[in-house]
Amino acid sequence: MTDSYQPPVAEFPLLQQNPQLIYLDSAATCQVPAAVLNSYQHYFTTSHANVHRGSHRLGRTATDMLERARGIAADFIGAQPADVAFSPSTTAALNGLAQQLPVNWCAGDEILLTDAEHHANILPWQRLAMQHRLVLRFIPVDPVSGQLGEWQQLINERTRLISVTLASNITGAVFPVADLSDAARQREIPVIVDAAQAVAHTRLNVAKLDCDALVFSGHKAYGLPGCAVLYMHSRLWRRMEPFVVGGGVVSQVSRHEAELIDSIQRFEAGTPNTGAISATATALEWLQEQRQLGVSVYLQQLRQQLLSGLQQRSWLQVLPAGDVHTPVVSFYCPDIHAYDLAVWLDEHQIAVRAGHHCAQLLLQSWDLTAVVRISLAAYTTEKQVQQLLHHLDEAWQMLGPTVE
Ligand code: ALA
Repeated sequence: MTDSYQPPVAEFPLLQQNPQLIYLDSAATCQVPAAVLNSYQHYFTTSHANVHRGSHRLGRTATDMLERARGIAADFIGAQPADVAFSPSTTAALNGLAQQLPVNWCAGDEILLTDAEHHANILPWQRLAMQHRLVLRFIPVDPVSGQLGEWQQLINERTRLISVTLASNITGAVFPVADLSDAARQREIPVIVDAAQAVAHTRLNVAKLDCDALVFSGHKAYGLPGCAVLYMHSRLWRRMEPFVVGGGVVSQVSRHEAELIDSIQRFEAGTPNTGAISATATALEWLQEQRQLGVSVYLQQLRQQLLSGLQQRSWLQVLPAGDVHTPVVSFYCPDIHAYDLAVWLDEHQIAVRAGHHCAQLLLQSWDLTAVVRISLAAYTTEKQVQQLLHHLDEAWQMLGPTVE
């Protein structure tokens, strides 16, 4: 293991107050460092007011905080602040995109997704498909490699949109989205990237991904829930209606119509959660610092250690991820249900997620309905991985089949 990166456990108040807890569910939501909590408190104790409305000083301060956060979020993904909006969640943003994309849908038009999508990137398209009689196509996941199967032939003259996850929330596999975008660009097909599962572990660059929209949740990157970052290329958002309308998105309103403002803020109707947004910007800065300290190499080494440990236990089957992956590993035991394993681990203060992980299509690639997922984060230690393996062995002894 690298000894240059020290997991900053002391920076996480919840972990400090629960020293026995082994939190291995960071793909669901990350624990929050003190710097982020302090930022939230700082906002409410020094700067809280409504934004883009007040002519008073406090209102201007809050607005500055929001716009500063926009700049940090934009920098983080290599975008211009003018193309970054804040949304309450990745799910809300994907639903909004599905309903408002400036596409003149015709029956039979196709939308291309993958079998690895989280339900948040399937259900909004199913709803749209029902409204316009569209066809959803899915790139399969190869059950042996865990990577995307053949996708080239799934892009055709009926394909009007591609919406894909950058990383699987179950296996951690990172997909070649830039290649998909390249093929899509040749046919002028817009590409949406769900980066929620990749943001904590993959450097995001919207120019390299060559996407039309990209979204991730702050809470998957050591920030706060209630705040997602939504990048949209200007060629997209300038032609698109707001997802929600109301205060803050119009320049002129008469009794029967309204004129929208000509900026990305038109996707932020109502009062934004500036405290969470500001704190999430602090989280992104914190994450950048951890990257400079070597967190990515550290987590890949820790994942390798976890993987080797799991693979040595012949009674467990690990799902494949391919060569490029986040520090997430899922497995199942043919003889013990995933929920029983998770409950056993929980009794030993080890928090993991078990079930279909809101990605049922992917599990069907292996004819499975539930797996146990271990997701690592900056605060996970080598000792915790060893403790997990130890308690899995105990579970096998206690819950596994008895040999006569
Ligand atoms: N999308 C989250 C997960 O994968 C909730 O656990």
